[in-house]
Amino acid sequence: MIIIKSPREIALMAKSGALLASLYDYLRPLIVPGVSTLELSQKAEKFVTERGGKMEEKGYYGYPEAVCASLNSCLIHGIPSSKAILKDGDLLKLDIVVSLDGYMADAARSYAVGICPERVHRLIKAAEEAFYNGVSQIAPGKHLGDVEEAIEKTVKAYGYSVPRDYTGHGIGTNMHEDPYIPNYGKAGTGPILKEGMTLAIEPMLLEHSAATRVLGDGWGVVAKDKGLTAHYENTVAVTSNGYRILTLVEEGKEEAN
Ligand code: MF3
Ligand code: CO
Repeated sequence: MIIIKSPREIALMAKSGALLASLYDYLRPLIVPGVSTLELSQKAEKFVTERGGKMEEKGYYGYPEAVCASLNSCLIHGIPSSKAILKDGDLLKLDIVVSLDGYMADAARSYAVGICPERVHRLIKAAEEAFYNGVSQIAPGKHLGDVEEAIEKTVKAYGYSVPRDYTGHGIGTNMHEDPYIPNYGKAGTGPILKEGMTLAIEPMLLEHSAATRVLGDGWGVVAKDKGLTAHYENTVAVTSNGYRILTLVEEGKEEAN
């Protein structure tokens, strides 16, 4: 069942979204060679808790840290570690869920660390483009498959793949709600979008094969062929005439399309 949020609830999610957007602004300059992913996670947690927010990933099904920090062939759910030290050429993905007053916002970003080869930049660009092409399909009356197909087509046009087993999702007072949102699909199929739905749209890209495996730590999801991976995600609300991205800029600044 897809939970429809009231304007009041969407305002609360936009507040957590603004906090998450400001967290990413704060983190950006800290993502440099020599820093460990654990340091980034600890700084993120301090930033959010000092502002009254909660790191929702910590303890989620026993997840041990405050953020997901995935390097290179690790696509998602990388556990931050003092041993994972950023170096030139790394492709880092952060995926973070925060809440204020129980209402959650989920967003992921991909970063080229220091000096990177063109292949890193191209993969990151494709992930962001896939998100925007997908999200631009969102409006009441459209099908979820319209969004999914736009994401898949963008990724395939670059020659990359999307995972089969990991998807976007509805979000609200729960991190994961209906509907599940694969990064592939067929226009004109799936649930019909309605005002008040809140969706985490999250293209996940693999440079070569779509095959993934889970690391021995039980969390990290990596490309089986060890290729590079990218991820870009925002929490989005369906509005009366389009959509509103809740995790990008400060509350009140974004406009429905
Ligand atoms: N942020 C992830 C998502 O987009 C979930 C992370 S799993 C966790 O669904 F255990 F780390 F929380
Ligand atoms: Co998500």
